[in-house]
Amino acid sequence: MKIIPVGGYKNAFVFGPHPLILHKLTILRDKTTNKKDCRELVHELTLFLMAEATYALEVEDVTVQTPVAECVGKRLSSKADPVIFPIWRAGDGMKDAALQMLPTANLGAIGMYRNEESKPVDYFHKPEEMPPGIVDVFILDPMLATGGSAAAAVTLIKKSSTSKLNIRFLSIFAAPQGIKCLSGEHPDITIYTCVVDEGLNDHNYIVPGCGDMGDRLYGTK
Ligand code: PRP
Ligand code: URA
Repeated sequence: MKIIPVGGYKNAFVFGPHPLILHKLTILRDKTTNKKDCRELVHELTLFLMAEATYALEVEDVTVQTPVAECVGKRLSSKADPVIFPIWRAGDGMKDAALQMLPTANLGAIGMYRNEESKPVDYFHKPEEMPPGIVDVFILDPMLATGGSAAAAVTLIKKSSTSKLNIRFLSIFAAPQGIKCLSGEHPDITIYTCVVDEGLNDHNYIVPGCGDMGDRLYGTK
């Protein structure tokens, strides 16, 4: 799989053209795709994102006995489990895939919605104080539009920890404006996205995007 820097950014990465990702994105964009299929596609695309976003996780040596010989292999560092933060509602659609890849991760939660002016409103946040030793954080939200919600979520998470965090933000669709905002406010985090779309419409929806992801996953509206 090829992941490439988003033009002009050192900390934002997008998948290069990959037949499976392109295929799944197109079905997800299609307004006739039903909620069951939207959920499955978000899950599958998140598996791809997680495979890339976990690339730099620390590993340690472990010796196992295969049926044939002793083997020194690697396992994820036992120092501290990462934390996964889905941003509700839509980010919850990525949670199971993230946990499938990192089954021992801790789970946080951030409730956030955009108001009429597209400004983020934070209505829930746990943990308020991160357990000591946590370093690796994965934030999940399929839509990075203006970037306001993502930037506010990262600020909340940074405030909840006394350790220096290695934060990765995972989105499925991103607008150039969202990448600019998030990377500008938090240049120390890494952004992974399946695709960077053309831009935003007058209502700050990603164009062409896939519409309101919360509604498509929850069957609302
Ligand atoms: C969506 C999406 C992001 C936010 C992105 O949430 O899941 O959190 O909008 O927009 P931004 O980059 O302009 O801030 P929404 O407000 O629709 O809430 P929901 O997930 O509960 O439906
Ligand atoms: N939130 C969504 O669900 N879709 C967009 O295009 C932008 C924000």
